[in-house]
Formats: sequence, C-alpha cells, structure tokens
Amino acid sequence: MRQPLVMGNWKMNGRRSMVESLLKVVMADIGELSGVEVAVCPPYPYVGLVMDRLAAHSTVVCGAQDVSAYADGAYTGEVSAEMARDVGCRFAIIGHSERRTLFGETDAVVAQKFARSLAADLTPVLCVGETSAERDAGRTQEVVLRQLSAVFKECGSGAFERAVVAYEPVWAIGTGRAASPEEAQAVHRFIRDVITRQNAPAAGRLRILYGGSVKAQNARELFGQDDIDGGLIGGASLVGADFVSICRAAGIG
Ligand code: 13P
Repeated sequence: MRQPLVMGNWKMNGRRSMVESLLKVVMADIGELSGVEVAVCPPYPYVGLVMDRLAAHSTVVCGAQDVSAYADGAYTGEVSAEMARDVGCRFAIIGHSERRTLFGETDAVVAQKFARSLAADLTPVLCVGETSAERDAGRTQEVVLRQLSAVFKECGSGAFERAVVAYEPVWAIGTGRAASPEEAQAVHRFIRDVITRQNAPAAGRLRILYGGSVKAQNARELFGQDDIDGGLIGGASLVGADFVSICRAAGIG
C-alpha cells in the first residue's frame, strides 16, 4: 500500500501573516488525520518560519519549491539542495512546468536538480506533463516519456527508489480545468508502466501525485483512481479550509 501524499505548492505567494494564519488552520484541523502525509512548500524566505511553527507537529512537513542544479559555491541567488535539507526541508519540487517554461529549465537541468536532491537526502518530486498543444497533437506519452528518460539517464535505474512523481498537465495548472479522473489515471498508469520497465519494485512503491486545478470538490474522485496517490496543490493550498478538505479526501479516496 502506498501512503497518500498531499503537497501544497504556495508558489510565489504569502507574507508572514498569511503563513501564520494558514498554518494555524492546517495544524488545528489536520491533527486527527491519519494515514496521509502532508507537506507545505513555501517560498524560501518563509521556510524558517514554517519549520518553527511545524516544530511540534509530526504530520506536516516542509518542502522546497526548487533547488539549484549546482552544489554550494559561487552561484549568486541560488539555493543548494544541501541548504534546503539543512534548514529542514524533506521534499523538493523539481521541474515544475513554471520553471521549465518561464525559466528555461531543460530536461537535462531538471535531471541534475533531481540528482542533487537525492544526494542531499531530499525526496525529489519530479513534475512532468504536457502542454495543451502537445495533448491536442496526441503527444502526451512522448513528452512524459522524454521527461522521465532524462532522469533515468542522469541517475540510473534506481532513480525513483526514493522519489515522487507529480503529473501536472500544463493546461490544467491554475485554469480551473482539471484533468478528468480517467484522463489523469491513464497518464499515471503510463508513468508507472515506464518506471516498471526499469525497476518494478520501485514503480510499485512510487507515489504519483496529480496536480492541476485540484479543489475540495474534485479531489476525492481523482484520488480514488488506482494510480493516483495524492496531489500537488497550487491555488487551493493557500486557503486553509480547502487544503484541509483535500488532505481529508486523500485519506478516504
Ligand atoms: P493549481 O492547483 O493552482 O492548478 O496549481 C497546480 C500546481 O502547479 C501545483 O504545483
């Protein structure tokens, strides 16, 4: 059995006051939730505050939204995977579509970041997914395969032994138009099949999250699919009550 995982990706949002009030709601209401692992991924300046507030809370952990492809050194503005781990992050989102499209991250750079995370004992959460033009052209599997293959090339067949994959169709991110449970399940199955061919035991244990317009209303049906093991939540993770509902849906999904 794979333990469901729900992660909140706050993206570049928040102030100290928002962090305080959001965590208050999340911690109060997630306390009794068992069987679901929950992570929040704040912007870096707030990681310390989040760690502080989560200190006594075992159920919720902190993740990073990105790490550098480089190890420590002369890379102004970057944050290494080692630093993220040092300040308490347990996960690192790698290759989010916003990083790929807005900041020009190639598959090779994404694979380096994935490798850095593993080396720093951070669990990489590899984001994969097609654009709407790629989907319309019937290229979803080709794109996802290319994104996964880059990581296998860099890290070998053991790449996904301690990792998470997030399927985030670009057309579903922030649009209010989530993939249907069946559409998402088909791609999740494909991802697991690709990884099975390299490493069947790791593929069986691998958690594959769905991301893209997950809301309290559609979470349960999405998480009820065989190969959907939780979610990577953007907008709805900024509203405490909504995020908590989504986490609950993962517990019963
Ligand atoms: P939304 O939930 O806002 O669509 O964002 C999804 C996402 O990009 C999470 O990483």
